[in-house]
Amino acid sequence: MDSRRTILVTGASRGIGAETARLLAERGNHVVINYREKRKRAEDLVSEIAAAGGLATAIQADLSKPADVSEMLCTITKAHGGIDGLVLNASGGLERGTPDDYPMAINRDAQAHLLDAALPHLRATGRVVFVTSHQAHFVDRHEVPKDYEPVAVSKRAGEDVIRERLPVLLGADVGLSIVSGDMIEGTIIVRLLERRDPNAVDARRSRVPLPTVEQFARAVADEAVRRDLVPRTLFIGGSDYLAGSL
Ligand SMILES: NC(=O)c1ccc[n+]([C@@H]2O[C@H](COP(=O)([O-])OP(=O)(O)OC[C@H]3O[C@@H](n4cnc5c(N)ncnc54)[C@H](OP(=O)(O)O)[C@@H]3O)[C@@H](O)[C@H]2O)c1
Repeated sequence: MDSRRTILVTGASRGIGAETARLLAERGNHVVINYREKRKRAEDLVSEIAAAGGLATAIQADLSKPADVSEMLCTITKAHGGIDGLVLNASGGLERGTPDDYPMAINRDAQAHLLDAALPHLRATGRVVFVTSHQAHFVDRHEVPKDYEPVAVSKRAGEDVIRERLPVLLGADVGLSIVSGDMIEGTIIVRLLERRDPNAVDARRSRVPLPTVEQFARAVADEAVRRDLVPRTLFIGGSDYLAGSL
C-alpha cells in the first residue's frame, strides 16, 4: 500500500480517458486505467506512465457487467486500501451490432451501478467526476444528429442519475463534478463524424474553436483531485451552447 491518491479512470485505454490518466499520473497520483477490450493499448499506457516516473495499473472490466465491476473495485481496494477519485469517462452506444437499449444500459445504468458499487470503496475527501458532452447535456434544448440522439439522451439520463446521488456522496464526504465538452478536436468520434459528414465538423469549427483532448482532459483531471465538497458543473468550449443560459 502507498500514500498516493488512487484514481480510477474508466474507459482510459484511449482518447480523453487516456490523456486524463497521463495528467493525473504526472501529478503523483496512482492511476487505475480501466479498459473493456483494448488490453495492449491500456498496457502500453501503463508502460508510458511508468517510463515517465508515474504509477499506473490497467484493469479490464466491462462496465455493463456487474461481476466485472465488483471484481475491479475489490482488486483496487485490496491493493490501495480504497479509491480517492472516480472518473466516469467510459461511454458507448455508437458501436455496430449492439441492441437498441445498449446506450441506456452503458451510459445510464452501468454508470449508476458503478457509482453505487464504488461508494463503500470511496475515501472521504474523494471526488466523482462524470464526463459528458454538450450534445448530451443540452439535448433538451439543441438538436443533435439523428444517429447520435440515443447516445445523447442516454448520457443526459446518466448525468441525471449521478446528480441524484449527490446527497449520498456528500454524506460520505465525497464531492461531485460534471464536466461537459463541445466536440473535442483529435478524438476518434470527431474523426468518424468528419469522415461521414465533413461539413458538419467544419461548420462547428467555423463557429467556435474546438477544445483539444489535452484541454478537456486537463479540466477533468483538475476536478478529479479536488478535495472540497462544492458540487461543480463545468463547460469546456462551445460558448454558443451557453449563450442565453445565464
Ligand atoms: N469525443 C468527443 O468529441 C467528446 C466530446 C465531449 C465529451 N466526450 C466524452 O468524453 C468521454 C470519452 O470520450 P472519447 O471520445 O475519448 O471516447 P472513446 O475514444 O470512444 O473511448 C471510449 C472508451 O470507453 C471504453 N468503453 C466503452 N465501453 C465500455 C464498457 N462497456 N466498459 C468499459 N469501458 C468501455 C473504451 O474501452 P475499450 O477501447 O477498451 O473498449 C474506450 O477506452 C465520453 O464520456 C464522451 O461522451 C467526448
